[in-house]
Amino acid sequence: MQIYIEQTADFVRQRLANAEAGHDWWHIFRVWNNVKTLLQHTQADRLTCELAALLHDIADSKFHGGDETLGPRIAGEFLKSIEVDVPVVNHVQDIIANLSYKAGLGRVTFHSKELEIVQDADRLDAIGAIGIARAFHYGGFKNRTLYDPAIKPTIHQDKETYKNSTAPTINHFYEKLLLLKDKMNTDAAKRIAQERHQFMQQYLEQFYREWEGN
Ligand code: ADP
Ligand code: NI
Repeated sequence: MQIYIEQTADFVRQRLANAEAGHDWWHIFRVWNNVKTLLQHTQADRLTCELAALLHDIADSKFHGGDETLGPRIAGEFLKSIEVDVPVVNHVQDIIANLSYKAGLGRVTFHSKELEIVQDADRLDAIGAIGIARAFHYGGFKNRTLYDPAIKPTIHQDKETYKNSTAPTINHFYEKLLLLKDKMNTDAAKRIAQERHQFMQQYLEQFYREWEGN
């Protein structure tokens, strides 16, 4: 079992060698670590969870012309090539497809404990200190301002208009990051999210204090 995980980690590390920093190998590494932590508190199939965490961003549709089927397909082909059992391969593909479908189309097509864990692990990497770093990194990449007191946050229904929005990065906290703690599936993730949430709130308070010069 461990050999499958190691071979998959090597494959993903190589494939993401030149990836953008929000979705690079280190994002995968952190999500993988989050999965291991959540598995200490939640019963689920370890191999499925770890393989899905490792392969979940192998071909993000954002960078592949919106093709949502590419990620599951590449993951499936790789896992079959190293002779992982077919039911596990299928389950990993369902998890990856559902993570992106859910994010992209708001459509739930599949459900399992393992999906819940990987989804929580991915969402945990969007909040707390790492979440703050990723948000400002993304904002810089899109050339957004840090903050503008005149531009109020709005809740976006449609992911595409959101991606093209020019709102300041601080707005992203209200539009997404501060909402994530209530979206966690497992109790363990809820506890970790609570801590990371408080850290973001503290960060924002200090940000506004410094904005005013005190
Ligand atoms: P995922 O692939 O997990 O759905 P995204 O691709 O939406 O995540 O975002 C990757 C990272 O960039 C996340 O940490 C997210 O919070 C951040 N990000 C996404 N959209 C914005 C935005 N409008 N402003 C700032 N950060 C953003
Ligand atoms: Ni991810």
